[in-house]
Amino acid sequence: MSTAENDAQIINAEMPDVPLHAPNKINLKDYQKPSFDVETVSLDIKLFEDHAQVDSILKMVRQSAGDIVLFGEDLELLALTMNGEALTAERYEQSAGKLTISDAPDEVTLAIQVRICPQTNTALEGFYMAGSGDDRMFVTQCEPEGFRKITFYPDRPDVLAIFTTRLEADKRYPTLLANGNLVEAGDMIDAPNRHYAIWHDPTNKPSYLFACVVADLDVLTDSYTTSEGREVLLEVYAKSADIDKCDVGMQALKDSMQWDEVNYGRAYDLDRYMIVAVSQFNMGAMENKGLNIFNTACVLSSPETTTDTRSFSVKAIIAHEYFHNWTGNRITCRDWFQLCLKEGFTVYRDQSFSADQQSSAVQRIDDVATLRAHQFAEDAGPLAHPVRPESFVEINNFYTTTVYEKGAEIVRMIANTLGADHFRKGTDEYFRRYDGQAVTVEDFLSALSITNSKVEDFIDWYRQPGTPVVSGHQDYDSATQTLTITLSQQTRHVSGFDAPKPLPIPVATALFDKESGKIMAERMLLLDQATQTFTFEGISAAPVVSLLRDFSAPVQLNYDYQDEDLAFLLKHETNGFNRWQVTQMLVNRILLPNQGTKSDPDVYLAALAQTLPVLASEDAMLAARLLDIPSAQELAAAILKDYDPELVKAQREGLYQQLAEALKDQWEVLYKQLPLQSYEDSAEARGTRALRNVVLDMALTANVEGAGEWAQQQYDNASCMTERFGALKAMVNHQVVNADEYLAEFYERFQADDLVIDLWFSVQASADNVNADVIKSLLEHVDFDWNTPNRVRSVISAFTSQPTALWTQEGLDIYTDVIKKLDDSNPMIASRLLQVLARWNTLAEPRRQMAHVQLLDVQQQVSSKHVHESLNSVLGT
Ligand code: ARG
Ligand code: ZN
Repeated sequence: MSTAENDAQIINAEMPDVPLHAPNKINLKDYQKPSFDVETVSLDIKLFEDHAQVDSILKMVRQSAGDIVLFGEDLELLALTMNGEALTAERYEQSAGKLTISDAPDEVTLAIQVRICPQTNTALEGFYMAGSGDDRMFVTQCEPEGFRKITFYPDRPDVLAIFTTRLEADKRYPTLLANGNLVEAGDMIDAPNRHYAIWHDPTNKPSYLFACVVADLDVLTDSYTTSEGREVLLEVYAKSADIDKCDVGMQALKDSMQWDEVNYGRAYDLDRYMIVAVSQFNMGAMENKGLNIFNTACVLSSPETTTDTRSFSVKAIIAHEYFHNWTGNRITCRDWFQLCLKEGFTVYRDQSFSADQQSSAVQRIDDVATLRAHQFAEDAGPLAHPVRPESFVEINNFYTTTVYEKGAEIVRMIANTLGADHFRKGTDEYFRRYDGQAVTVEDFLSALSITNSKVEDFIDWYRQPGTPVVSGHQDYDSATQTLTITLSQQTRHVSGFDAPKPLPIPVATALFDKESGKIMAERMLLLDQATQTFTFEGISAAPVVSLLRDFSAPVQLNYDYQDEDLAFLLKHETNGFNRWQVTQMLVNRILLPNQGTKSDPDVYLAALAQTLPVLASEDAMLAARLLDIPSAQELAAAILKDYDPELVKAQREGLYQQLAEALKDQWEVLYKQLPLQSYEDSAEARGTRALRNVVLDMALTANVEGAGEWAQQQYDNASCMTERFGALKAMVNHQVVNADEYLAEFYERFQADDLVIDLWFSVQASADNVNADVIKSLLEHVDFDWNTPNRVRSVISAFTSQPTALWTQEGLDIYTDVIKKLDDSNPMIASRLLQVLARWNTLAEPRRQMAHVQLLDVQQQVSSKHVHESLNSVLGT
C-alpha cells in the first residue's frame, strides 16, 4: 500500500458523525443500581456490503423506580417499539449518548432497529472490519463500553442477560460465530448468496462479554473433558495462512483448563470454547464468553516466526483469558471502577500458571521487572491513580499497569498472608457466594477474609495511589544475641487524594550466617505502622538480612546495606529472585547515586564474575537475567527531577561496557558452551537460547575477536526465531558491517508474515542509534499501516525505548504527530501513546520546556475525550 493510499484510507475511514461525548467525570460514589434488569436479548445482525442492520428485542423488568436508560453511540436509530407500540420521538429523550424512556411499565419488551457501519469503524471498538481486501473480516470488541456502538442497551456490567444472536451475511464469509452454542445454521432462501447462523448463550452475562465474528477462517479443533465429565469442543480460528501457528495456543488452552481445575477447583461450563485470531486489535485479547478474540500477536506462535519471549506470553495470555471465565465472567464487576477485581485477580492467576511452566524465580523476576519499569513509573508521575480509581472520564484510559499489575500484587500479598490452604478456602468461598453476580472489591475481600479478618485491611491498597518506600536498618546486640530490624514506610502524597496512611506490607525476611552462608531464621514481617521494630532472639552472630524475598510487596526498598552484603547475598541467597534483586540494587546504587549510597562498580563486577560461570550451567535463564541492567526508561522512572536522557544513556552504556569488559574472558567460553541446537520448547532450551543471546551481545560490546562472525553464523544457522532475531538485533545494535544486508534478508524471508515484519520494524525503531529520520522513513515504508495497532506500536512504541532520540524536537514532533493522527481514527491507541509522555516534567531544561510547549500544542489539536483526559492529567490541568 502506498503512502498516498494510506492517507486516503484514514480520511475515508473517519466516522461520519462526531460522537456525542459527555466530557463529564463519572464518580464511584455516585453508583446507582439500574432501574430495569434485562432478562433476555435477542439480536439479529445482518451484515451488508457497506453497513449492518441490527435488530434487537430486549425483555426488561423493573427493579426499582426510575427510567429505562439505554446507551448508544454512532448508531442510526431506524425504529423503536415498546410492548408492540411504536415510540415516537416525544416518548423518549436522546442526548449525550443516552436514550431515556420515562414512565415505562414494569414489564417491557423493547424492539430496536439500528444501522451501523462496521466498514468505517477504525476505532476498533464495537463491531468493526479488520483487515482489508480479500482478507477482511468483521469482529467485535465490547469491553468496556463497545456494545453501545452495536445497539441501544443498558451497557453496564451489572446488567446481566441471556443472549441469542442471529448473524446473517454473504457466503463469502463462511464463518459466523457468536457466544454460546450453535442452534441453527442455513441458507437464505430468498437470497442465494447469503446464509445465517443462530447462537444461544445459556449463561447470564453483561453486554461487554458479547462477541460475534463474520469471516472466512480456518479452524484447528481439539477437545477437552472437564473434571465434571463435560466434553468441550475447542476451536482456534485463524486465516488459512496462520492456521499452522495455532498449536501452541491450543495446548496452552488445555493446560489452563486443567490448571484451573487443580488449583482453584474451577471447571469450564459450556460445551464449546472458541478463540479467534484478528490482526487488527487494540489490546492483547478479550475474554468474551465462550468466544475469545485475540490479537494475532497474542495467539499465533511457531518456532520459525515467534521468539521464545513472545511464545511464552502467548501461553500466558491464553491462560489469562481462559481464567477470566471464572474471575470476570461468572463473577463480574459491579461497575468499571471495580476493573481490578477481575483483572488483578486474573493476572495473579496467569502469573501463577506461568510460574508452573518455568523456573518460578525467573517468572517472578520478569513480573517484577515489568512492574518496576511501568507501574512504578506510573505511580511516580501525574497519571498515578489508585488500583481502584474513584473517578474517570473515559474508562478505556484505566486499563493500566496499576489496575492490572499492582492489582495482581495485592492479591499475591493476600495469598501469601493467608498461606495456600486458607487462600484456597477464601477463593472457594468467593466463587460459592458470588457466582452469577456483579460484585465489588469489598465483596472479594470479605470472602477471602473468612479465615483471617486481617485481609480486609488490604482495602487501603486499592484506595491509595503511590508506591510505598520501605526504609530500614538493623542493630545487633551480641550480649543478648538479639537482632533488631527497624522498618518504616512512606508513601508520597498524591494531590487530589487523602494524606497517605500506613499500609499492611508483608516483608519476607531471612537472616544469613556470615560464616556459613546458611539461613539462620526466616520470617514474614508484617509492617503495618509508619515505623516498627522486629526482633529476632537467639542470633549468635550479626547476620546479613535478606528482605522482600520474592518481592513480597510492591514497594521500593531502601535498606541500609553495604555493597558487600549485597555481593554476599548474590552468592548465598537460596531465593533466585533475590539473587537478581541484589544485582539490581547494586546497579541502581551505581547508576543513580543521588538515590542513596554510591556504590563501587568493582564489587558488583567481581560478584558477577564469580557467580556467572557456575550459574550458567545450573540455570542458564537465571544467569541471563542476572546480567540485566535496567533499561534507560526504567532508570528514568526513578529520577524525579532534572532528568538528562543523554547522561543516563551514557552512564548506563558505560556500566554495560564495563561489565562486558570485566567478564571478557568468559564470553567466548560461554558462547561455545551453548551451541545452537535443534529447536525444543523446554525451559532448559529457552534458557540456553536466552543466555546465548545475552552473551553474544556482551561479546560484541567487549569487542571479542570473531564475535561479529558468531552473530552471522547464528543468524545463518538459526533453528528458530529466538536465535535468528537475537543475532539480527545484536548486529543492528552493534552496527556490524553487514547488518543492513541481514536486515534486508530478514525482510525478504518473512515478507508475508505481518508479525515478523513487526519485529523487523521494531528492531530498527528501537536501535541504540535510532534518530527521528529513521522513524520518519519507517513510517513512510510501504508496509507501514496506520490502521493496524500492532504495526503502529512496532515503530512508535519501540521508539520510546530510546529516550535520547524521543526527547528531541524532531522526536517529539514525530511522536505527537502520530497521536494527533490517531486521535480521531483510534483514540484508544492515541491516548495510550500520549500516556508514555507523562514524565515530561522530570526532564532537565531545555527539554522540559520544549516538551511542555509540545504538549500544550497537542491539546489545541485533539478532540477525543480519551486523549483530552490523559493530557489533562499529564499537564496537571
Ligand atoms: N479484558 C481484557 C483482558 O484483560 C482487556 C480488554 C481491554 N479492552 C479495552 N478496550 N480497553 O484480557
Ligand atoms: Zn484481563
